[in-house]
Amino acid sequence: MLKVGAVGTGGIFRMAHLPGWLSSKEVELVAFCDPVRAAAEAIAKDFPDARVYDSYQELLDDPSIDIVDISTPNLFHSEIAIAALRKGKHVFCEKPEAVNALEVQKMADAARESGKLLMTMRNNRFSEEAKYLKRSSDAGKFGDLYAGRCGWIRRRGIPGRGGWFTTKELSGGGPLIDLGVHMLDLAMWFGGNPKPITVSGSTYNKFANRPDASGVVPAGTFDVEDMAIGFVRFDNGASLQFEFSWASNVEAEQKFVEWRGTEGGFALVNDKMKMFSEEGGVQLDQQPVFNGKQTAQHTANILHFIECVLGREEAIYVPSQGVDMIKILTAIYESAATGREIRL
Ligand SMILES: NC(=O)c1ccc[n+]([C@@H]2O[C@H](COP(=O)([O-])OP(=O)(O)OC[C@H]3O[C@@H](n4cnc5c(N)ncnc54)[C@H](O)[C@@H]3O)[C@@H](O)[C@H]2O)c1
Repeated sequence: MLKVGAVGTGGIFRMAHLPGWLSSKEVELVAFCDPVRAAAEAIAKDFPDARVYDSYQELLDDPSIDIVDISTPNLFHSEIAIAALRKGKHVFCEKPEAVNALEVQKMADAARESGKLLMTMRNNRFSEEAKYLKRSSDAGKFGDLYAGRCGWIRRRGIPGRGGWFTTKELSGGGPLIDLGVHMLDLAMWFGGNPKPITVSGSTYNKFANRPDASGVVPAGTFDVEDMAIGFVRFDNGASLQFEFSWASNVEAEQKFVEWRGTEGGFALVNDKMKMFSEEGGVQLDQQPVFNGKQTAQHTANILHFIECVLGREEAIYVPSQGVDMIKILTAIYESAATGREIRL
């Protein structure tokens, strides 16, 4: 049995990580840590032998723990992951890896030096649609993927307004870092993870001081963007446009990744996929049907992580992909602040 210690026992841990770990018969949750002790205790009560810690350092000193699961606000991910790896633990971390390029590089270095597994949550890679598109693009079905678009645009959907999500120091940014990691990751994964070389972007903050339905501006810090748009160029000549918003005046929320290739293209829009090609001069649209039950995103990630720790599967995610991702995000913020294209 692999022993798991959880650091951060808030919303996403309770709703998604917990069922993920519980779905495996090869792991045991043995410790919970949260500075809000009551949050950790509320979960630990269902695990009679589990320990509750106030600080992650105490949890890391527990020699029985093999795996550390991190679900804290973004700022703390890298610090806890690096300390855990240096203590010889495998690490499963929530997204985003870190709040800036320096921190994510330190995480990747710590993983390499420790020889332990570091994986970060990748919500969208495990759906049947995504796996099919990845297999197909790797097999050359679409030819060279050279022009892409991705985004997650919400009309109104600001998470935890006034709390850590909207506080730059704790979150690292707004929808770009919160939603951007999901769709940029999927787009780059489909595209074969080319190396980003230049980035240009703009960010906006137009909703922070907007009154709610009762006419009152909600209290609390809101010093991150509510929308980001931009453009990335890769070393293989491909380019990717993106847009992410928590609030913007669009018709409806939409999540999308689209690639155009020399032999075909595809779009995954709100998790529905379509492929576009031409055969003998005839334009062809294809829409595969997946009727099977899909595994919940976190459960799929966690089960894969366990297989990798046990040496039975090769990791679908490697830390250098996280480094490229966070470098892009950091450069977009720099580009937005300076009004210049940034070379990575
Ligand atoms: N992949 C996804 O679908 C998804 C969805 C939501 C959130 N998230 C990510 O999960 C993380 C947590 O988000 P959430 O919505 O659960 O937030 P949350 O505020 O509900 O929970 C965070 C918890 O971490 C605790 N915490 C704060 N500092 C800590 C520290 N230093 N050590 C230990 N615990 C600490 C808090 O007390 C709180 O209980 C974030 O990084 C967020 O980006 C991912």
